[in-house]
Amino acid sequence: MKVAVLGAAGGIGQALSLLLKNDLPAGSELSLYDIAPVTPGVAKDLSHIPTDVAIEGFAGEDPTPALVGADLVLISAGVARKPGMDRADLFNVNAGIVKNLIEKVAAACPKACIGIITNPVNTTVAIAREVLKNAGVYDKNKLFGITTLDVIRSETFIAEAKGLKATDIKVNVIGGHSGVTILPLLSQVQGVEFSDEEIASLTTRIQNAGTEVVEAKAGGGSATLSMGQAAARFGLSVVAALNGKQGVVECTYVDAGSEHAEFFAQPVLLGKNGVEKVLPYGDISAFEQTALTEMLDTLKGDIQKGVDFV
Ligand code: NAD
Ligand code: LMR
Repeated sequence: MKVAVLGAAGGIGQALSLLLKNDLPAGSELSLYDIAPVTPGVAKDLSHIPTDVAIEGFAGEDPTPALVGADLVLISAGVARKPGMDRADLFNVNAGIVKNLIEKVAAACPKACIGIITNPVNTTVAIAREVLKNAGVYDKNKLFGITTLDVIRSETFIAEAKGLKATDIKVNVIGGHSGVTILPLLSQVQGVEFSDEEIASLTTRIQNAGTEVVEAKAGGGSATLSMGQAAARFGLSVVAALNGKQGVVECTYVDAGSEHAEFFAQPVLLGKNGVEKVLPYGDISAFEQTALTEMLDTLKGDIQKGVDFV
């Protein structure tokens, strides 16, 4: 397996690359790309870690050398939020970055799975789809918006609130990746009872968790380390499934024929060709049904903005 990280010199990219260097299966290749000239140095630094994962780093205008032969491309290239901004404010810069990078992916490794981290995810994934369609290489089973950070936050906050082990919590987060479009299905968490007040406050905290980090970093960026962990979890799941592991399920933002919107985050069974099966997200509470209905205009608008851009 070859995994390429685009944006690899950034806050997420470096954390993600470190985790992948440690945890990819023996014999894998890891390829780092960023416009920042330090990128070959990041790869050199990581190359001293004694794992059987080959690593190379590329800088400059063209990601192609990093992409050739890639099975999975993870994209965190772009700008991050500062206090007072919301994710949609990143569109002006990041839309063009994602469009350009996906054009290169379409040419260099058209059969690769692609995981998009760059915000606004609700929109950048739609941009990627349109670019891949225009290049004639779109496979809806291989394009993912990475929403795993919402899942790991939910696991953490539920465990904290209930005095449980975070590793014991399993929770689906559906919808998209911004504000009201993030919908944790707390009613489904096994063995945990929540009051209505707890549901409301935990849901709001999970939806605003990105802003919590942006404000705490006070102008120094957004979540990088937790996102590195989340993207590594997602990327390693994709790699395991591509390698034939059965039963690998992750929530992710996909073009899966959802009745709700063209792209929708929900649990997905991963397999040797990307999405093997889109799984139902199950029964939801009246509170969750209202939140789902109320998010849809925002989510559809975010998707349309990406389509219109391309
Ligand atoms: P960062 O500024 O630390 O790193 C971004 C990197 O992208 C930089 O190294 C920069 O040189 C590089 N870059 C910019 N343009 C590029 C291009 N054209 N080609 C290659 N590399 C390029 O930012 P970060 O904290 O790593 O965040 C990156 C993105 O991820 C942001 O858009 C942020 O909002 C998003 N993000 C998403 C999630 C999520 O849950 N999906 C979570 C956190 C952050
Ligand atoms: C997050 O959820 O932390 C990321 O989407 C970054 C951000 O801007 O909030």
